[in-house]
Amino acid sequence: MQKKLNWKKSLKLYEEETKYLPAGTSSNARLWRVGCPIYEPCSVFIKRAKGSHIWDVDGNKYIDYRLGYGPVILGHGYKKVVDAVNKAAKDGSVYALGTELEIEVAKKMIKLIPCFEMVRFANSGTEATMNAIRLARAYTKKDKIIKFEGHYHGAHDYVLFSTDPPFNSKKGPIPASLGIPKSIEKLTIVEEWNDFNAIEKTVKKNYKDVAAIITEPIMGNASAIMPKKDYLKHLKELCDKYDIILIFDEVKTGFRIAKGGAQEKFNVDPDLSCFAKAMGNGYPIAAFGGHEEIMNLIGPKKVIHGGTYSANPLSLTAANTTLNELSGKVHDHIENFGSKLIKGVSKLLNDHKIPNIVSGCPAMFQFLFTKKKEINNYKDLRYCDMNLYARFHFELLKRGVMVDEDNEEVIFSSYSHNKEDLNKTLNAFEDSIHDALIGKSAVMEK
Ligand SMILES: Cc1ncc(COP(=O)(O)O)c(C=O)c1O
Repeated sequence: MQKKLNWKKSLKLYEEETKYLPAGTSSNARLWRVGCPIYEPCSVFIKRAKGSHIWDVDGNKYIDYRLGYGPVILGHGYKKVVDAVNKAAKDGSVYALGTELEIEVAKKMIKLIPCFEMVRFANSGTEATMNAIRLARAYTKKDKIIKFEGHYHGAHDYVLFSTDPPFNSKKGPIPASLGIPKSIEKLTIVEEWNDFNAIEKTVKKNYKDVAAIITEPIMGNASAIMPKKDYLKHLKELCDKYDIILIFDEVKTGFRIAKGGAQEKFNVDPDLSCFAKAMGNGYPIAAFGGHEEIMNLIGPKKVIHGGTYSANPLSLTAANTTLNELSGKVHDHIENFGSKLIKGVSKLLNDHKIPNIVSGCPAMFQFLFTKKKEINNYKDLRYCDMNLYARFHFELLKRGVMVDEDNEEVIFSSYSHNKEDLNKTLNAFEDSIHDALIGKSAVMEK
């Protein structure tokens, strides 16, 4: 089954791109840097995608489990969404004024998402978390935030701390980028996730200065780590007790793990929460919302929120159509597909006596090569053989299956992934095992 894929055009384009775009990419995370140059290519250039598949510029076809880092919940180029957006485009793409559609989508979201009493639209997850944090600061009249190690909330300065620190580092805040002012570091407290006592202590010590605790309800940027039983409830109780706003960043979990997101699944009512990705099946749209008393602080001469493209009719149309589709069997399908994939791959790995666990839930999960029985926080990932995962990524790529090269990203599936994809994927995994085990290590040490 193993093919020798030709990535000639991708390699050439990558070389050319580095001359014009720094690091040869439009988003740092996209670069398969740890596989480069041992595992060519550094970056595959894409021509098109349809349903569960994606094609590169050299004509190679892959079953896609990255799905644009999560947004594509229905499938690439999903007909109903594309048709609706194309139709809407005939009436213009941006008005910078209100529309009926804005109200329609807002109502739908408020019905679906437990904590939403009001909502504002934005264009990316980064914008959504940035605005939610500003709102929490305005409401509480406090400045600091608590975030967790290994959680990613977008590319703005307030949250770019300890997103991916070295495993041997002290508890943060560790800036994840150059250029972040020291003064902002002082406003950020970083805690270890899933540790009931640590967060309680930190809150008790700092609550007079802390406006918000922001958390991914399932860690989706450090593989997929589930919250311990009642951990999210513990955060909520602490926040209520100490006058702190609890923000759920549901940019990855939202509309994916349940219609109402993680807050529905875990039955916890955050004060504010942020959505993006699956909300528009790949079109750029995001939202933040929550309790009316807090949201009503947004407005002229109060809390600023805006944006030229916020609630533009094309993205809203994509969201409206996607939300309509999500009322059907999408979640059952994804749950079923993900469960079968987990079961099949686990069996193969266990049969070959490769120590592993599956972290996460069927809608977003990851295989971790470890002898540990469970992984509960970011630093636990140091026990996982990410080199082996990167080798699987490469061997799978050669066999027409695309997972991310980074073990800290998750495996997503969509409504368009079918039985044939499942069987092909399981065959590709089985066929990859030998070569992945003997392959050379490529991952840089953290
Ligand atoms: C949990 C989470 N929050 C926020 C973001 C930022 O979203 P965006 O890339 O749309 O700005 C991401 C992106 O991956 C994310 O995973």
